[in-house]
Amino acid sequence: MIQLLSHLAHLEITTPDLDASVRFYEEQMGMREVERDGDSVFLRCWGDYYTYSLVVTRGEQPGLAHMAWRTSSPEALEEAVRRIEASGVQGEWRDAQHRHGRAYRFTGPYGHVMELFWEVEKHRAEGQHRSQYPDRPSRRTNHGVAPRFLDHVTVAASDVRGFAKWYRETLGFRIMAYTSLDEAPVTVFAVLTTNEKSHDLGVVLDGSGVPGRVNHIAFWVDTREEHLVAADVLLEGGTAIEYGPSIHGIGEQTYLYFREPSGLRVELNTGGYRNYVPDWEPHDWKPSQGSNSLYRNSSMPHSMTESFPPAPGPSATEEGALPGTEDDLAAAIQNPYARQGRG
Ligand SMILES: [Fe+2]
Repeated sequence: MIQLLSHLAHLEITTPDLDASVRFYEEQMGMREVERDGDSVFLRCWGDYYTYSLVVTRGEQPGLAHMAWRTSSPEALEEAVRRIEASGVQGEWRDAQHRHGRAYRFTGPYGHVMELFWEVEKHRAEGQHRSQYPDRPSRRTNHGVAPRFLDHVTVAASDVRGFAKWYRETLGFRIMAYTSLDEAPVTVFAVLTTNEKSHDLGVVLDGSGVPGRVNHIAFWVDTREEHLVAADVLLEGGTAIEYGPSIHGIGEQTYLYFREPSGLRVELNTGGYRNYVPDWEPHDWKPSQGSNSLYRNSSMPHSMTESFPPAPGPSATEEGALPGTEDDLAAAIQNPYARQGRG
């Protein structure tokens, strides 16, 4: 198969309070509004190569409206569409809009809307945002968290291995790692990539029965110093830190999780390995090996299992309220030391 996709280009998320969410991305994250169209606001990080990487759209609930990947060539776009339709999924072509060329939009087998395009406008900032460096699309900012660019999206699906298999076989994603429970042969997490990063697409097990949910969106900073300062900036700005900073065993990325005003989870990453191996075989990690928390000395909060839009019924933060699968997932990942009798 030719290389079909090159990287994640942008995400569109929904929020019930557009103003509050946009204020968060501008003031806390330090991203910049570049365009507005009706109920959608387009935002960029200083290092994003295209005009924007995040579209925030007014909606009833927090969620993922679509995720957009750039293909590797015009031919790769045609081939990707051919493969999607051969798999039995029918999407639609959309005219060029919002600074990228015509795009093919489809809903994947687990309910996630994905858009693929080749043509896109490369960003060159003017005036006060212009960088000294020819390769930089706009100048570095030190405002807020100041991520360099969008890093990945982690969605939720009812069958992690089925999800990974479809995206590998249809679109050529490499599957980089799985996590399966220590106690039972249940795969609860997988990471996939289109390039040398450990992942630009993650998937967590979703027992809610709601298709197309998202667990978090993630941005990138270059160094661990910036990552720690970002945690400090967020705390000082009144944003609670949900989990981290620490390091994932899988991908070896430094992580930090927090929530934007809609409740949607946002992650900030740095570090991690690069992996170019074309025939990489994913290991099946166990939580007790530190798949989630490399140091295995802290418990993942139960709230981390919440995906968006929220599942109908009792909130996941209410003790004992979760359906079996999510509960099992939370318990299994929370404290591997306790389970090994070392806690
Ligand atoms: Fe993540």
